[in-house]
Amino acid sequence: MTKISSIEGRILYNSRGSKTIEIDVKSEGKFLGRVCAPSGASVGKYEAVSFPNGSPEESLRILQENSQKFIGLESSDLKGIHDTLKSLDNSTNYSKIGGALAFAVTIASMESASKAADEPLFKTLSSESSFKFPFPLGNILGGGVHAGPGTPDIQEILICAIGSKTIEDAIEINLSVHKELRHVLEKADPNFTNGRGDEGGWAPKLENQKALEVSVKACENLGFTLGKEVSLGVDFASSTQWNEEKQKYVYDRAGFENSTGEQIDFAANIIEKYKLIFVEDAVHEEAFEDMAELTAKFPNTLITGDDLIVTNKEILTKAIGSKSCNAVILKVNQAGSLYDALEFANIANQNNIKLITSHRSGESIDSQISHIGIATRSKMLKVGIVGGERIAKLNELLRLSEHDLIRGMAEI
Ligand code: PGA
Ligand code: ZN
Repeated sequence: MTKISSIEGRILYNSRGSKTIEIDVKSEGKFLGRVCAPSGASVGKYEAVSFPNGSPEESLRILQENSQKFIGLESSDLKGIHDTLKSLDNSTNYSKIGGALAFAVTIASMESASKAADEPLFKTLSSESSFKFPFPLGNILGGGVHAGPGTPDIQEILICAIGSKTIEDAIEINLSVHKELRHVLEKADPNFTNGRGDEGGWAPKLENQKALEVSVKACENLGFTLGKEVSLGVDFASSTQWNEEKQKYVYDRAGFENSTGEQIDFAANIIEKYKLIFVEDAVHEEAFEDMAELTAKFPNTLITGDDLIVTNKEILTKAIGSKSCNAVILKVNQAGSLYDALEFANIANQNNIKLITSHRSGESIDSQISHIGIATRSKMLKVGIVGGERIAKLNELLRLSEHDLIRGMAEI
């Protein structure tokens, strides 16, 4: 047991070059937990706000004014630290202190506790005695709000090496598909600049179906069969396309509009044609019934809610009632504190809803989410493939492969 002896913050930048906060929590004057908060671009309506009035400086000012309230708490007392944050902000979305502060303070405290206990963070976060690796799920081709004009409306096409028996193999296969896709794109378009979107996926000028076809081609060129060694996934991020006034999904770049029924068919065709293992936000963030239709139709695909669920336990409970998804994205900063996120993970696990722990498009080079993915028994870890802030999470998995407590890959 070690007590927090200091808590301090600073302004830094995330991978998109936007200002964010980093928090240092020290226990017993020497065990340092350090966490830099990420932030999203396709942000769900109901997720925690990153900063009060968009100001990271304001979050830091609040921390400085209240730092004494944290000093003397046990660094491993996640509930106590969470309750102290809630005493400063009783709003549902951390609008007073900023979700980024709740994120960074809680994870940094647990990292400090893990150092004091001389154990890896995943172990400090869980009472289990054996663990499995989540399958890395990585963005190979990006569009939507993560890439520029001419790229697909669909936000992300992802690869997952579902046939791999080891984490080393799973990471290597994802990297090989990402590399091969570059060659396929260069062949198809001599003007392809090798440009990449916010999460490191290639950002070619291609419409949605073509983007999916080149992704299949990259897998086939490497001798992989979809559904065997690898499978593709798609994050539609459909709230980006949803036009409330028209009550339609507007695919600006491809030049068509889908009614609700047409959107369900559009997504269902893509799931079938490309044998997708993973589908995120195929309909907009309030379309619980439409998601339920897809969940009923595709029991063997992870029909996943991100903007739909926003790592919120009340919304998850509602979605379980309406059978709206069989999988959920866990983004700690959507929930706010790590305590909120772990409660959410428990509800998902108790109800057989598969967890996919995820990065944000604006990331730091931290790698605590690799531990959070392991501790929450996530089936997949969605952290991208290349770029320093993405590879940091994958490299941490490789370091952890030296650990005896983690054996084998999760069962999807
Ligand atoms: P974000 O998007 O981090 O930009 O919100 C990622 C996602 O939609 O999964
Ligand atoms: Zn998403």
